[in-house]
Amino acid sequence: MSRPGHGPDLVILTGAGLSAESGLGTFREKDGLWTRYDLNDVATPEGFERDPKLVRDFYNARRANLREAEPNDAHRALARLQRTCPDQVMIVTQNVDDLLERAGAEALHMHGELFKTRCAFCEAVWTDQGDLGAEQACPSCGRSGGARPDVVWFGEMPMFLPQIEAALEHCRFFASIGTSGAVYPAGGFAAQARRAGARIVELNLEETEISHIFHEALRGPASEILPPWVEEMEGRLARSPWGC
Ligand code: APR
Repeated sequence: MSRPGHGPDLVILTGAGLSAESGLGTFREKDGLWTRYDLNDVATPEGFERDPKLVRDFYNARRANLREAEPNDAHRALARLQRTCPDQVMIVTQNVDDLLERAGAEALHMHGELFKTRCAFCEAVWTDQGDLGAEQACPSCGRSGGARPDVVWFGEMPMFLPQIEAALEHCRFFASIGTSGAVYPAGGFAAQARRAGARIVELNLEETEISHIFHEALRGPASEILPPWVEEMEGRLARSPWGC
């Protein structure tokens, strides 16, 4: 249970490093997506306006990748933590994959979801693991030509921010997992939680540009460092007056 009227005791922010061992690419590492594509062409509303086919092909390739991918031990460890400490753990993910859900976890997808399609005309959203098509008709308004991935592009507003900000103001623990912290507002969540009094930890393969602000750091592949960290967090949350 969470503290009365205060929300989750632990807020977790995840990034591409959580799914890297499932074969999904990261963005800024060697061979990362943004080293192979110009994000202005494939991850902005202007890029979609300019060349919708290039954008749909980019996301169709990522959907094909995701259909072949499986959750790894890091996803499963987070799902276990939410099972053993219900309502106590909020997972906020910058990732658009569904591997946390497939592992049995619940997450707020602040950058949207790859397996969802949005109509650019009426904003209707529907689940869709298939290819985005130029002539795909919207099931809601019937217009075709507006099918886009329901993901947040650069210059667009991330999702769930009021809920996330409220949780950061009251959580006792914050963990940043597999993210470079390079993109805001997510990159500022750790500092916000620390200012509000939370104990903050960074779990990452290596140092990041925000490593210096954390109280603790665990280094290594997420699938190796998360299971023991989850066991330790279950103990810490169980000892909190609100238990878990
Ligand atoms: N285990 C743990 N961490 C890992 C692993 C791994 N196996 N592999 C990579 N990492 C770490 C890297 O060290 C790096 O810090 O994951 C991080 C990946 O950083 P980025 O490629 O910048 O991805 P991310 O932080 O998720 O990017 C944030 O930027 O472009 C936007 O929308 C995009 O959501 C994304 C956001």
